[in-house]
Amino acid sequence: MSLPRPSVLLVDDEPRTLEVLGALLDRSGFAVTLASAPGPAVELLRSSRFDAVVTDVVFDGWSEGALVLGAAREHQPDAVVILMTGYPALEAAVAAVKQGATDYLQKPVDPVVLAAYLHRALREREMTSPALAFKDLVDIMTAMVANTIERVDPYTAGHGSRTRKYCRLMGTRLGLDASTRERLELAGIAHDYGKIYLDDLGFLTKKGPLTPEEYAAVQKHPELGARKLGHHPQLKDVCRYVAEHHEKWDGTGYPKKTAGEDISLPGRILGCVEVFDSLATKRSYKEGWELTRVIEFLKGERGKHFDPVVIDEFLVLLAENGEDWLKAPQRDREAAGVVVPS
Ligand SMILES: [Fe+2]
Repeated sequence: MSLPRPSVLLVDDEPRTLEVLGALLDRSGFAVTLASAPGPAVELLRSSRFDAVVTDVVFDGWSEGALVLGAAREHQPDAVVILMTGYPALEAAVAAVKQGATDYLQKPVDPVVLAAYLHRALREREMTSPALAFKDLVDIMTAMVANTIERVDPYTAGHGSRTRKYCRLMGTRLGLDASTRERLELAGIAHDYGKIYLDDLGFLTKKGPLTPEEYAAVQKHPELGARKLGHHPQLKDVCRYVAEHHEKWDGTGYPKKTAGEDISLPGRILGCVEVFDSLATKRSYKEGWELTRVIEFLKGERGKHFDPVVIDEFLVLLAENGEDWLKAPQRDREAAGVVVPS
């Protein structure tokens, strides 16, 4: 899918930053308009159309940057908005997402990275096109997840892609037709995307156990994710599987306590394989589990958390691949250049 030369409004009060980033974005295929202060930027946002807005957030304090973001959201609701921030990553991410930004980058901003982000964000916007092929949706969703939730909680880098792979293998083994399997794969990538819309992202990297309030909040993420993806005509079933991924066979899951075969088969598969990858992955509050412990846990939940048919099939796959798959989270973190505390 090739895009025409997209228009970008670049806002920063440092002339050198404007010059360097502007030139690079121009060479990267964007039509760039420069603004050196929030006032002129807001005027431009009122009078011209932009595909993307890239703005510093601190001029004379956050309120000035918020002004540009607010004007962008008001006058250019379809534009991609990327903030450049000097603030610590998590707070910046939370503030940016809540106020409608598409993404954020920490300063100093690498122009090459910025160009890549813009291209990717503009593709995400293409999600609204009903003509997208499976491969396009996979690319867009993979970028969306890697760019958002897996960046806020770097321990989870690659969780969506690994879950997709396990979904594909299980879908084949359990005889899903090709189109159902593709939808399951998309749900595998995107199942935790709704976490980025929770009010407080801080618990995602919390070291201790969650409070009851935090646990209640996290339980909203399947439906938040389903709602976010719900606008796309091809994704109706994908939304269902995302919404079901924490339901349990015995009806004790969330959010709806759906039980047994009332949970779709793809939803049951997703709910099983994503638990495996979560157990295998080191998180802020736990180490990755050893294979024997994982298998013992999964067997113990047969007929409780997991559909017996699904878990039996997955255990066959684990007997063959389990040791390798347990190493995958660390491999993916290294490949993504993610460093987590040891
Ligand atoms: Fe989840």
